[in-house]
Amino acid sequence: MKILITGAGGQLGSDLVRVLTPRHKLAALTRQELDVGDGAAVDAAVFREQPEIIIHAAAYTDVDGAEREIDRAYRVNSAGTWHMAEAAERIGAKFVYVSTDYVFDGCKGAPYIERDKPNPLSVYGTSKLHGEKFASMLCERHFIVRTSWLYGRGGNNFVAKIVEKARRGAELRLVDDVFGSPTYSYDLAVFIGSLLETEEYGTYHGSNEGVCTRYEFAREIIRVLGIEGVKLRPAKADMFPLPAARPAHSALADTAAGAIGVKPLRPWKEALRHFLLTDLADGREASHA
Ligand SMILES: NC(=O)c1ccc[n+]([C@@H]2O[C@H](COP(=O)([O-])OP(=O)(O)OC[C@H]3O[C@@H](n4cnc5c(N)ncnc54)[C@H](OP(=O)(O)O)[C@@H]3O)[C@@H](O)[C@H]2O)c1
Repeated sequence: MKILITGAGGQLGSDLVRVLTPRHKLAALTRQELDVGDGAAVDAAVFREQPEIIIHAAAYTDVDGAEREIDRAYRVNSAGTWHMAEAAERIGAKFVYVSTDYVFDGCKGAPYIERDKPNPLSVYGTSKLHGEKFASMLCERHFIVRTSWLYGRGGNNFVAKIVEKARRGAELRLVDDVFGSPTYSYDLAVFIGSLLETEEYGTYHGSNEGVCTRYEFAREIIRVLGIEGVKLRPAKADMFPLPAARPAHSALADTAAGAIGVKPLRPWKEALRHFLLTDLADGREASHA
């Protein structure tokens, strides 16, 4: 099938290309090739490529930056999704919109299921929730896939930062009262690849299974890599005030995909181990070459 991917240069976008390349014909467009905030450019690209499926992975993902650059966050995450969903509907394509755990406020205190009511705390979360609404309003054959705490090859993500700091011998203070589900972008790409084979449209949670705090996440990274002598200390979130409010407990539970026979993502520790010992190691060799 012909699939158009937006944000193809990002963590998820590049893993979608990795996962879908052998089986599908791809139009993988980076921000330089398609700015989703430009409605005319979106219409032209979709008309030119005539995809049967659109996976919209492009987003403004700087959660704190969005509090400053409000217009930009809404332009990309809300209006950009409007443009993509409308164009998908016009040519009868299936549409996959990737959303976030930050549409929730964290007050539930337990993993969120697909039917739980969103209530975002930040500009980023609100702009992504508008994206969800536009996807469902404008494109009949839509999938909304919420994910969380994403890391992957080449990304400036939590895992990469912890590895760099731990190897440098820096003291690490990580919050131990914020809970989420770390997710390997490669696993999410496989999940999306399975989902789009179905006609079971609607909202799904696509995170690696399980819950941890940032402190536990960092401890596992250091343990798997066997980095010795790291000074890792637990801390409270209120010791690190940030521009954007974040949900204290935004782990995602998958109840929808399992019900339609799509394989859920593996446990987070298994996925992390795979990433650290394959993708991360490959990247290091390449950067030393
Ligand atoms: N990262 C997380 O922890 C996380 C958590 C939950 C949900 N998500 C969602 O998962 C999806 C994938 O995230 P990710 O981690 O792969 O993000 P990412 O690595 O930041 O990739 C996003 C991509 O979108 C591109 N982009 C930004 N503005 C654009 C525009 N106007 N037009 C077209 N492309 C544009 C970026 O290009 P430039 O780099 O050139 O700006 C980047 O390549 C997003 O929908 C995000 O909201 C992410």
